[in-house]
Amino acid sequence: MLNSEDAGSVKCGQLKRSSYLVIGDIAIINASNEKEIEECRAFAKCLSQKAPYLKAFYAKLSTEGEYRVAKLVHLLGEERTATIVKEYGIALAVDIAKAYYNPRLAEEHRRIALMSKDGEKVLDLFSGIGGFALHIASLRSSIIFANDWNKEAVSLLLKSFYFNRKKMKGSIYATVMDAAKLLEELKGKIVFDRIIMNSPTNSVNYLEGALTLSKAGGKVHLYVLSSREEEAIEQLIMPSTKSDASIEAIEEVIEYSPSKSVFRVDLRKT
Ligand SMILES: C[S@@+](CC[C@H](N)C(=O)[O-])C[C@H]1O[C@@H](n2cnc3c(N)ncnc32)[C@H](O)[C@@H]1O
Repeated sequence: MLNSEDAGSVKCGQLKRSSYLVIGDIAIINASNEKEIEECRAFAKCLSQKAPYLKAFYAKLSTEGEYRVAKLVHLLGEERTATIVKEYGIALAVDIAKAYYNPRLAEEHRRIALMSKDGEKVLDLFSGIGGFALHIASLRSSIIFANDWNKEAVSLLLKSFYFNRKKMKGSIYATVMDAAKLLEELKGKIVFDRIIMNSPTNSVNYLEGALTLSKAGGKVHLYVLSSREEEAIEQLIMPSTKSDASIEAIEEVIEYSPSKSVFRVDLRKT
């Protein structure tokens, strides 16, 4: 049986690719450019013979635009981009052509859910299809506000909440808004125990606003892209905190490119 591969070089017969991912019953093979499509198709043919449970095969050229959606080329099998993925027993509705999803974040979704506590008010400012929100709601009786400006992502989140409704302990309120507008609208109306900011390419821009909605002692999990040392990450973040927060931990979460990783910075509002 083939597992999801995301690092190093993977082989299928004589064919070699730097990486591929399995999402539900769909395989996504990374291509650096259009010229590699035919090599990816040959690799997909080999995979399809070894893993008959895989039904659709796509090449991914890049992750694009404000919604961080994959640019895909169909290679083989069904022309279907929707599937269902399980993370720690939670069924997630995924559509790789409509909203961001990365199976390598499953452990991170769990890690944050385990840090959370019953009764918390949580804001997931860049929820995507709702990995963090659904993990938290499945473990804790908390109230989670989940937001993304991609309406397709939010509609997948709502579908997943319905799939898992019998195991949900918490409530999720979902909105489709620009994060800046949501922060503005919530100002003075609510404060949160925990704020999750998982949009590594632009999350720092919203940190100052998010801290105004954090209660004293509240946690903010900020995800940033960096190739640099902890000290440099602090320099990137501290100007946006206006000394309202202290950094409790910095952890590398996933590799983003050969030279950059996604880091989680855990902040505590003072
Ligand atoms: C890295 S993806 C989210 C991943 C998601 N948290 C998960 O764990 O799967 C970043 C998400 O942020 C959303 N996003 C980026 N900037 C935004 C903004 N200003 N307002 C609302 N959503 C935004 C994108 O649409 C995208 O779904």
